[in-house]
Amino acid sequence: MRTKANPAAQAFEDLADRYDAWYDTAAGRVLFDLELGALRPLFDGTSRPRLEVGVGSGRFAAALGIEVGLDPVEAPLRLAKARGVRVLRSVGDQLPFADTTFAAVALVVTLCFAENPAGVLAEAGRVLRPGGRLVVGLVPLDSAWGRSYGEKGRAGHPFYRHARFQSLPEHRRMLATAGFRLVEARSTLFQAPSDEPVVEPVRGGAVARAGFVALSLQREDAGAG
Ligand SMILES: C[S@@+](CC[C@H](N)C(=O)[O-])C[C@H]1O[C@@H](n2cnc3c(N)ncnc32)[C@H](O)[C@@H]1O
Repeated sequence: MRTKANPAAQAFEDLADRYDAWYDTAAGRVLFDLELGALRPLFDGTSRPRLEVGVGSGRFAAALGIEVGLDPVEAPLRLAKARGVRVLRSVGDQLPFADTTFAAVALVVTLCFAENPAGVLAEAGRVLRPGGRLVVGLVPLDSAWGRSYGEKGRAGHPFYRHARFQSLPEHRRMLATAGFRLVEARSTLFQAPSDEPVVEPVRGGAVARAGFVALSLQREDAGAG
């Protein structure tokens, strides 16, 4: 099993506490709730077990009832474990699970940090049961938030400098190439990233100018879930 951290994962190892503590800031609390509000309905009606790939410190996994979390680095996994998530250390393009193990697989702002996102999607498809759901949370590059994070990355931000943000059409193409079809979507963060974050509604559908988009997908070859 390959566990040597890529530079992106190494940043989350080195700064795990800082990453996790951000969720407890005033801005972090608002953004977490908005993103959770977009993701949660996509798990309604999905069964178990559930896996999050790139689980980080496990905030979303714990809130979404995801039992198993995987990440390439140790420090975030310790925090996820303390939140009650069963954790495994590995990379998303080499999942240590048998085919068709999970009813749902989540990828929350992880594809942009993986060095082989197509391989991560192929593995997610392999471990999903027929009719299972892939739930992807992403920051579209074609949103003000994606552009802002990209600028921060170019200025040397410790996390965003490792991210390769992609537009919503690029995500759609990558997911279709990996054999997934879109079932349902939610979008939020229509406010400007420069302002103090405020609560706002989550909208139905995938909207490129939203700062956070949550997609629910099924394998093309899957029967009804
Ligand atoms: C932005 S964090 C997201 C963590 C968590 N999903 C959340 O939203 O709080 C990205 C995570 O992806 C992980 N990661 C980086 N490369 C990865 C890979 N190849 N496979 C799986 N996870 C990876 C990082 O270690 C990090 O924990």
